[in-house]
Amino acid sequence: MYAGKARAYTNIALIKYWGKKNEQLILPMNSSLSLTLDAFYTETSVHFDETLTEDIFFLDGKKQNTKQTEKISNFLDLVRKRKNLSLFAKVDSQNFVPTAAGLASSASGLAALAGACSEALDLDLTETELSRLARRGSGSACRSIFGGFAEWQKGDSDQTSFAQMIPSDNWEDELAMLFVLVDDGVKDISSRDGMKRTVDTSCFYSGWLENVEPDLAAAKQAIKEKDFNKLGAITEANGLRMHGTTLAAVPPFTYWSPESLQVMQLVRSARQAGLPCYFTMDAGPNVKILVEKKNLTALKHFLADHLSEQKLITAYAGPGITLMPIERLEEL
Ligand code: ADP
Ligand code: DP6
Repeated sequence: MYAGKARAYTNIALIKYWGKKNEQLILPMNSSLSLTLDAFYTETSVHFDETLTEDIFFLDGKKQNTKQTEKISNFLDLVRKRKNLSLFAKVDSQNFVPTAAGLASSASGLAALAGACSEALDLDLTETELSRLARRGSGSACRSIFGGFAEWQKGDSDQTSFAQMIPSDNWEDELAMLFVLVDDGVKDISSRDGMKRTVDTSCFYSGWLENVEPDLAAAKQAIKEKDFNKLGAITEANGLRMHGTTLAAVPPFTYWSPESLQVMQLVRSARQAGLPCYFTMDAGPNVKILVEKKNLTALKHFLADHLSEQKLITAYAGPGITLMPIERLEEL
């Protein structure tokens, strides 16, 4: 029996990953940049066990169906191959984040799985190697290896596509992200399917690609200069452009709901009222608002006139992944 466990936090992209050039290796069309957050995370343990006759995947205490388990098995095959191991495994994962709701459960979930496997099988990986491995589970997971700001350099091969920390002089500690939960149910179109349909069919996709690398350079410069308004404006524009691509897909789709649009408009109104804050959205209807910590209370007051407080979750910059030997499991 080989066992290991890991905890990984979600990350929200400020410059989005949207589209793959290699689906099997999960090589992205463009580089991306994210902020790891402290409010949402996944804990996953894995036991490679000689008594098992198949892989089993439990998520939040529920045994998962064949399709979900197959995704996990494909990932386990990667690490089994590295160790020339033929044992099946039991994966037990707890999401402290709504699953498949556009709140980045795939990032924390697959990063935690990569970490747990690495711990169980003593893979002894560097952060870069762990990031590459997590990427094979879910692209955005490669950024969750790191705390604070991370950049996923798209690369052009398995070796060259991984995330790394962006030096920021801890500026992220002055920032917050306020989540407005419009709907935390499972979305109709997964990020994976949504980005594939867009790459394959959207005539707006080339416009996305033309702008994303300049956006990334500008976002990195804003982090270097600790220029909140610059980073916020680029974040908001980049997110809108990503969502624009879906409208021209065949068949067209959108992750927005009427309430998402209302929240976006509220953010613009807050800005007009002198409160610097900017929104971004992922593959789901929930809205995330980037704000400086010093303005968080004022923003919540502003929103309180329009939204129930129960819909708000505050997140700050979060840490990188923690790998845990199985005996330490109960300590956390
Ligand atoms: P999200 O916005 O939550 O990241 P995605 O559609 O990108 O939504 O990904 C959701 C998928 O990620 C799930 O259907 C499941 O396959 C995978 N996932 C989520 N949480 C976990 C977890 N803890 N362990 C393994 N896989 C997970
Ligand atoms: C909109 O990383 O979940 O959140 O690589 O297919 O597993 P797969 O996709 P995933 O997609 C994330 C898309 C996004 C943008 C981002 O996080 O950069």
